[in-house]
Amino acid sequence: MKKNFELPFYLFLPIIILIICFIIIWMNFYAANLKSQSIYAPGLYREQNLLYLDSEAQINDRVEDLLKQMTLLEKIGQMTLVEKNSIKDPFDVARYSLGGVMSGFGGKPFNNTPKDWYEMVNNYYQAGEYSRLGIPVLYGVDSVHGHSNVPGATVFPHFIGLGATKNPDLVKNIARVTAKEMAATGIYWNFAPNLDIPFDYRWGRVYETFGSDKDNVTTLGQAFINGFQYDKDNNFVALATAKHFVGNGQMTWGTAVNSDYRIDQGTTNISEAELRENHLAPFKGAVEANVGAVMIGLNTFDGKKLAANNYLITDVLKEELGFNGFVLSDWYGVYEISGSKYESAVIAINAGVDMVMLPFDYKIFIRDVAEAVEKGDISQTRIDDAARKILRAKIALGMFEKDFDSPSDFSSIGSAEHRDLARQAVRESLVIMKNNQETLPLKIENSSMLIAGSAANNMGRQTGAWTIEWQGVNGNVVEGTTILDGIKQLAPESSQIYFAENANFENSNLRAPIGIVVVGEKPYAEGVGDNPNPSLSDLDLETIEKMRGLVDKLVVIIVSGRPLDIKQYVDDWDAVVAAWLPGSEGIGCADILFGKYPALGTLPVEWEL
Ligand code: BGC
Repeated sequence: MKKNFELPFYLFLPIIILIICFIIIWMNFYAANLKSQSIYAPGLYREQNLLYLDSEAQINDRVEDLLKQMTLLEKIGQMTLVEKNSIKDPFDVARYSLGGVMSGFGGKPFNNTPKDWYEMVNNYYQAGEYSRLGIPVLYGVDSVHGHSNVPGATVFPHFIGLGATKNPDLVKNIARVTAKEMAATGIYWNFAPNLDIPFDYRWGRVYETFGSDKDNVTTLGQAFINGFQYDKDNNFVALATAKHFVGNGQMTWGTAVNSDYRIDQGTTNISEAELRENHLAPFKGAVEANVGAVMIGLNTFDGKKLAANNYLITDVLKEELGFNGFVLSDWYGVYEISGSKYESAVIAINAGVDMVMLPFDYKIFIRDVAEAVEKGDISQTRIDDAARKILRAKIALGMFEKDFDSPSDFSSIGSAEHRDLARQAVRESLVIMKNNQETLPLKIENSSMLIAGSAANNMGRQTGAWTIEWQGVNGNVVEGTTILDGIKQLAPESSQIYFAENANFENSNLRAPIGIVVVGEKPYAEGVGDNPNPSLSDLDLETIEKMRGLVDKLVVIIVSGRPLDIKQYVDDWDAVVAAWLPGSEGIGCADILFGKYPALGTLPVEWEL
């Protein structure tokens, strides 16, 4: 019989060690090779005493000096904004002279901490040092209610709540704090403020707006831009983006091209006169406030995707309103213009788009645009004009002077001072819609109160979408106080508070003079939130019903991004409070419930009871 011949394991060890050594040597060689593939050694450009690097020189002189040294490909690179997850090799920033890198929501570092954000973003900035002229990228994020990508950051109420405050000073301070928390992670560019004016509340983006009153939207939009872009000494420190130009808030239900959506990214079926009358004012205000960038909507108007609309982008926005910053397209909007990527890019750039959010196919885009210039489909002047505007923003922001190696101080992120401001925003945003027989402020000394509801003790619900994840989170994974925490903290010591989410209290004999139920919408973003009938869920209604049977007076707090249809139930409730999507400082609700502050919020949208 043939005997099996087995080698002892230890004889393989040297081979395994050799393989590991080989892999390590190869990885080092690969990394070194990547660096040598970059066109220039890092910082080489700095040795040449160039005007564009002189921080004392005039911004325009620096821009022109830089522009005249750039190749066509480098200029096109500047017009390119790429989602970070589609960059497989960070050196592409240098290789293609990319203008911007961004995080779509979900574009977070592997470990989602402020420090990892800082390192991730600085990696891209440092990669810029390897490019021929050392032009830094801009890194953009959606910090639409605080730097809410990042755990531990202060999460402010969504804009709909800020719309209810009608307080421009508050909005200005919030924007300033947002810029500060972003800067701690090395980010100076925000895709905010949203200046859409919603007409159809079934749309999933109503809560991202300051509401339907265009004067209020204009005033708060300007306040946001001022606070975000300028520090207390009026230095230009960060770049805001007014979005979505224009008419995004008045699309027709059922026109969404995306089959999962109903109205979002659909068609704005109104006349030019209505478009101007209903939607232009906030953008005019933004231009007056010197906004650095404007993002073009994903909607269609006059049979064309907005990004293809030369008249609205060039004639109206740039010439008539005098917008002098750069125009940015939104997400895949440019490539939705036509089936051909080449043609789409040509149409959008000729329409006046300066920077294209691709977000993925940057190599194809750069190749196509270079070809279009060679063929005369896009003029060299148009490319120069676009690149000039982007470079001006970078130079004005001081991107060339920043030190991307220095350590950062993360202490401002979610600081007590910032959270106090968020708490103020929450209490000013609350709207008391009904208050029979002075149910509010709550009087519960020496007495008890029952609390229930799906949104009473759930951070995810109160922060809404664009918080950690694009579609938001569920449960208490965001730092701060839930509405329940806040009530417990501020309730008089002589009172007793009982909580059961579904109003199934352990002691079934429990009764109380007052009950609060906190209910509302689950988080949603963009078209995912398109809803033919925004209302309360059966579960929420059941909880309210149960609570009604246990208490003398019932307060219902609605946590939602838009008006909900509650007409048929409201007669049964003693008080109704619209809390919108209050963010991380739920305690601001208790400030109002207990009458610690006057209730100042007023409806930013129509909501009939
Ligand atoms: C949204 C924009 C957002 C962009 C980047 C798009 O889907 O429409 O508002 O700024 O994504 O995340």
